[in-house]
Amino acid sequence: MKSLVVVGAQWGDEGKGKVVDYLAAGADSVARFQGGNNAGHTLLVDGRQVILHLIPSGVLHDRTRCYIGPGVVLDPGVFLEEIETLKAIGTCTKERLMLSERLHVILEPHKRIEAARELAARDSKIGTTRRGIGPAYEARAARKGIRACDLIRGGKDFEKKIDQLLEEWNYLLAGLYKEQPVHKDDVLEKCEKFGRELKPYVGDVPGEIEKDLEQGRAVLFEGAQGSLLDCDHGTYPYVTSSNTIAGAVCTGCGIGPTRIKKVLCVAKAYTTRVGEGPFPTELEDELGERLRVKGGEFGATTGRPRRCGWLDMTALKYALDRNGGTALAITKLDVLAGLEEINICTGYETDRGLIHTVPPSIEIFEKCKPVFETFPGFDKDSLEGVDSMEGLPREARAYLDRVEEMAGIPIEMISIGPERNRTLVKGAGPWV
Ligand code: GDP
Ligand code: IMO
Ligand code: MG
Repeated sequence: MKSLVVVGAQWGDEGKGKVVDYLAAGADSVARFQGGNNAGHTLLVDGRQVILHLIPSGVLHDRTRCYIGPGVVLDPGVFLEEIETLKAIGTCTKERLMLSERLHVILEPHKRIEAARELAARDSKIGTTRRGIGPAYEARAARKGIRACDLIRGGKDFEKKIDQLLEEWNYLLAGLYKEQPVHKDDVLEKCEKFGRELKPYVGDVPGEIEKDLEQGRAVLFEGAQGSLLDCDHGTYPYVTSSNTIAGAVCTGCGIGPTRIKKVLCVAKAYTTRVGEGPFPTELEDELGERLRVKGGEFGATTGRPRRCGWLDMTALKYALDRNGGTALAITKLDVLAGLEEINICTGYETDRGLIHTVPPSIEIFEKCKPVFETFPGFDKDSLEGVDSMEGLPREARAYLDRVEEMAGIPIEMISIGPERNRTLVKGAGPWV
């Protein structure tokens, strides 16, 4: 069985898209299993940048099949637009893209309710991407969601579902938030169009994945967001509304845990976070700004500046454990080049002494003070021309050795630039 899960091990934007694009050269299929278009995965291939929100990052490889699993919440408009963008650059998705008939769709009212809720929350807002992710997952849990199969079927049954939803949507929008109500005809018209346009892409994704695995094809599972944004294991309530850890592959694609072979956790050589919520190693000074500018740390989905800080090994180790990570990919090492010193957080100082994990209570996490270990930096130009792990400067290797030691799993990939070919791999790489 050849299966590899790639997940983010921080607060998202770790460079999963780049890692998946690189590894997809060895994959027969790539599947998304959770989240939606709150994700923004950036690929840079032959000088061309492609940002994907829903379609798996294996799509630039012509022979790779791309699946969107039942655990994803899908905004039909964004999905159809993404197909058009790919078409415009000569990437054909028609025959090799399939989305699950069971996945839940995001409709306009979900986005409007989320925006109104965030606005009303003022100081306690989450800082969401406002893509309707939360309300769509809420509807799923409340057993009132609209799925791809419903959109396609349409008819009287569908209208009945919308009638029920409209009552609640308008109670929230017009009643609670004093916004304009949603009109039934507008919703139905859009849904009818989406149903028609999604139909050619809809299929039995879990069945296809199971077949791929049975027949020995290599399947790559692409995570979105990061483990610290997981709704159960992340820094709740400042999290997303899905499970983002590797275990979510099983529920999100409908395959059993026995089908997962390897879990590659992706982390930046430092840390970033978009949106609200505690971030113990955040640098709110010139150094943070330097990382933001050099690392191009602006959200691929919302354009918001990302908060930047030192590598938090305590939070990372917690994330690796929640994922059962078998290997680590460290990205954006080049962004640290030229710093005199580099810090790694190895624990948190709290009222009750030193701790080495992420506490469950956000009020305690907010007060955690990072304890750092300091390493000498490496030269600004020292990564130019490096094409193997062995070729890395001595100081960079010492830094990575310590990360590996604290992680307790091997670093099998290092990324030293946004381009596909600025990637260093240990031995035969994560597939083996
Ligand atoms: P994702 O959401 O995890 O796929 O990450 P994003 O695409 O949102 O953010 C990562 C950003 O870093 C993108 O702009 C990538 O092109 C870029 N990137 C990825 N790896 C590297 C790297 O090793 N070095 C540099 N400088 N940029 C990188
Ligand atoms: P990728 O896949 C970084 C963050 C939002 C917000 C919180 C909840 O590109 O790594 P949501 O819209 O999901 O309800 O927002 O989660 N967030 C991300 N941060 N990268 C992402 O995805 C994110 N997806 C959601 O900023 O703090
Ligand atoms: Mg991103």
